[in-house]
Amino acid sequence: MITSNELRQKYLDFFASKGHKIIPSASLIPENDPTVLFNTAGMQPLIPYLLGQTHPEGTRLADVQKCVRTVDIDEVGDNSHLTFFEMLGNWSLGDYFKKEAIEWSWEFLTSPQWLGLDEKKLSATVFGGDKRFPDIPKDDESADIWKSVGMPKDNVAYMPGGVLESEDNWWGPAGLTGPCGSSSEMFFWQGASDVPPVGSNPATDNDNWLEIWNDVFMQYNKKNNQTFELLNKKNVDTGMGFDRTLRALNGFADIFQIDTLWPLIQKIEEISGREYIENSEVTKSMRIIADHLRTATMVMGDDRKIAPSNVDQGYIVRRMIRRAVRHGKILGIKENFCDKIGAEVIKIFSDVYPEVARNREFIMNEMAKEESKFRNTIEQGLKEFQKLMDGFRIAFEKTGKNVKQISGKQAFKLYDTYGFPLEMTLELANENGLSVDVDSFQEAFKAHQELSRVGAEQKFKGGLADTGEMSVKYHTATHLLNAALRKVLGNHVEQRGSNITAERLRFDFSHPEKLTAEQKAEVERLVNMSIEKNYPVTFAEMTVAEAKAKGAMGLFEDKYGNKVKVYSVGDPEVMPDAHENTLAFSKEICGGPHVDNTGVLGKFRIKKEESVSSGVRRIKAILE
Ligand code: ALA
Repeated sequence: MITSNELRQKYLDFFASKGHKIIPSASLIPENDPTVLFNTAGMQPLIPYLLGQTHPEGTRLADVQKCVRTVDIDEVGDNSHLTFFEMLGNWSLGDYFKKEAIEWSWEFLTSPQWLGLDEKKLSATVFGGDKRFPDIPKDDESADIWKSVGMPKDNVAYMPGGVLESEDNWWGPAGLTGPCGSSSEMFFWQGASDVPPVGSNPATDNDNWLEIWNDVFMQYNKKNNQTFELLNKKNVDTGMGFDRTLRALNGFADIFQIDTLWPLIQKIEEISGREYIENSEVTKSMRIIADHLRTATMVMGDDRKIAPSNVDQGYIVRRMIRRAVRHGKILGIKENFCDKIGAEVIKIFSDVYPEVARNREFIMNEMAKEESKFRNTIEQGLKEFQKLMDGFRIAFEKTGKNVKQISGKQAFKLYDTYGFPLEMTLELANENGLSVDVDSFQEAFKAHQELSRVGAEQKFKGGLADTGEMSVKYHTATHLLNAALRKVLGNHVEQRGSNITAERLRFDFSHPEKLTAEQKAEVERLVNMSIEKNYPVTFAEMTVAEAKAKGAMGLFEDKYGNKVKVYSVGDPEVMPDAHENTLAFSKEICGGPHVDNTGVLGKFRIKKEESVSSGVRRIKAILE
């Protein structure tokens, strides 16, 4: 038996012993990356450093990163899929490469001092080449290293990789450019026999081998679909799927038995009076509730304080809670229960991610509010849905016409009047052997309001944030806006989210009410004044405590006494204050990059100011 705390600690201790600095998990919400709603891999918050920026903690890093992936949400309920998970990772930023990465992976997995796994139960795949790119060789070097460290030679397999599609032993950008390279995946034997038959490896028997860890060797810069250049610095990016590894190490039949999920199942059993193993429908509903409320709690418990809403991350939270409520109904739960599960999640993660404890009140309030709101209409909504089913049946009996589809208008009514997320209507329809006219739902939705970006949530596949010139300008402009908002509205203003494209910035912040025309004009004026002053933008590295003492803004944890970068607009030795005749305008903990002088930004204009959720406002602004 190995607990979640033990596995995290072992991993971090091991890499600390190999000269790695332990860094805290970044927020679940990516900074300035418009292509994704959530961080979906440990490397994602580190992209600027993988692209060559220096990291204040050096060239060897390790962490446990919170991640959310919703692409497999429909699979949740089986014995392995989850929407929230943790990823263990170690990085070399131009430091060590294949030899050390593989030797350390092997040592961590097999040494009795660490995980002590049976060598015969491990296998690895290496890049087997892509016919279209003869210049990128198959990875004999990694195969040789695996054999030299002691991996049974039959357990090392070559996999043909798709370097353009980033498939099988290749990790790289989904977009056209960016750092990429071959990878070596490690697998743990899960078959019925105690040890795998000789010669069994993931290439021949994929079902019985569970992938637990991936070492990526970032060696190339993809210029376009034909050209791969060698990078100046070679990086290593690794990711170990924490939850699935914990399951495998403990030999659990399903992932919900790991100790970061099992207490939730127990609580659901207690509240519903049902048993987890009663029948497959009960098991499935309990798993969905446990997974979804864990994810909702972790997203709401992020310092960005995401409340349930109809857009972006907030919409995912809403979907998770509402789907959990519906499955609670299937189990016969009649009272509000989501916050009780949320409280368990907070208990489980408080020590690992202190922000969930910090945001406990917010989580509990918002969860209870959302559940009550939905409970008020779900009964009627389900009746309305039943009416639709009855209508179809009667029509069929009368006319013989078998309607197989819920129209967009009907689905929109369920959404608009009864608060059914489209995905819930789809799920109900599916359970009843029907489809939904999603296109005409979207039309009805668009006619009703600006279409949210949520539908376009993209799967992250090593995609890179746009670090083009305009994005960098917008990033600096975001700092100026953040500082100006505090000067005009007060120090309660805290960043809740930021999203930048080459065309605009979008900034979410805490503030209880709509900005007046005067406040908006004043914010614009201050930002433009700071642009005209042509302040230098510089950074220094220091501890979080020093940063705070120097008046830097930023939500940051200090569990490991880490160094952070602090970007100053104006004189870095001067505290930015509330007055405009100051030598310093803004100071913020941030990874960069930024422009060198504010003068290059042009003219700043606010295009829109609106509410995102209760207590959170959003500004969209452009540089002209
Ligand atoms: N970035 C690699 C992954 O997530 C390590 O698999």
